Amino acid sequence: MTDIVVLGSTNMDLVAYVEKAPQRGETVTGREFRTVPGGKGANQAIAAAHAGGTVSMIGAIGNDSFGARLRSALEHSGVNTDHLRTVEFPSGTAHIVVDDEGGNAIVVVPGANGTVDHLAPGDEGLIASADALLLQLEVPLPAVVAGARAARGHGVRTILTPAPARPLPPELLAATDLLVPNEHEAAALTGRTDPREAAIALLDAVPEVVITLGAAGSLYATRGAELLTVPAPHVTAVDSTGAGDTFVGALAVALGENRPVREALTWAAAAAALSVQRPGASASMPYRSEIDKQYAS
Ligand code: RIB
Ligand code: NA
Repeated sequence: MTDIVVLGSTNMDLVAYVEKAPQRGETVTGREFRTVPGGKGANQAIAAAHAGGTVSMIGAIGNDSFGARLRSALEHSGVNTDHLRTVEFPSGTAHIVVDDEGGNAIVVVPGANGTVDHLAPGDEGLIASADALLLQLEVPLPAVVAGARAARGHGVRTILTPAPARPLPPELLAATDLLVPNEHEAAALTGRTDPREAAIALLDAVPEVVITLGAAGSLYATRGAELLTVPAPHVTAVDSTGAGDTFVGALAVALGENRPVREALTWAAAAAALSVQRPGASASMPYRSEIDKQYAS
């Protein structure tokens, strides 16, 4: 089994489903409201656990009802939460509008996630025991850098999702093995809107890059080899929130099992395709048997 540690955010997603997102100054009537556990860190943890990984989460939740529900959602999915701290801040929230095409607009209020700006005692030991450390950018950069460096120091593969997009400090890139931006993040990082050009540019900074392309699949680049494009299954999206996180969680599990890159990317695309067909972030993340079935079809 792949041993995975995720260092990152945990949010309660407050989701309004509407036909079309409102413009500034406009009020629209929504169809439905849901509260769903989310946050890029927790999503990747839950996705990896459902995909068959052994997963632990480093992060923080508030001492409130959202925090309690977030912890129990992680535990229910089999994620170890011993390193998920409860702090005297409100739990992180994400205020999400999902439209009829399954697209979204999100405001994240970090709350407790903002306290995750360092590694706590014991976190490094946990990271050292893993096959891979998954990182995103919804907790303060100093913790992301410290986590990546700790992983690198112990020979643990680091997989960074550079989202939400922001400039990355060189010391973070230097400790990243695999960078997984979407095409917008890749463009923001490189100034190149062509994903192939962006992927090649990113290889100056990291040894392996996967650019996720939504319904168009993904693009893999490594030094000294041809670019690899891997398609995604054609599906109708109802809610794409957390699809990228689902992809990364499943990919980390498959790579940890030493499956060939093309196979791992195809399997991760199958997981993401399943997740977009169901509402909610963590609530939509498929289990290994479902991914295998979609992969085989
Ligand atoms: O990547 C999707 C996640 O981003 C959502 O679950 C939401 O919490 C935001 O952080
Ligand atoms: Na979904």
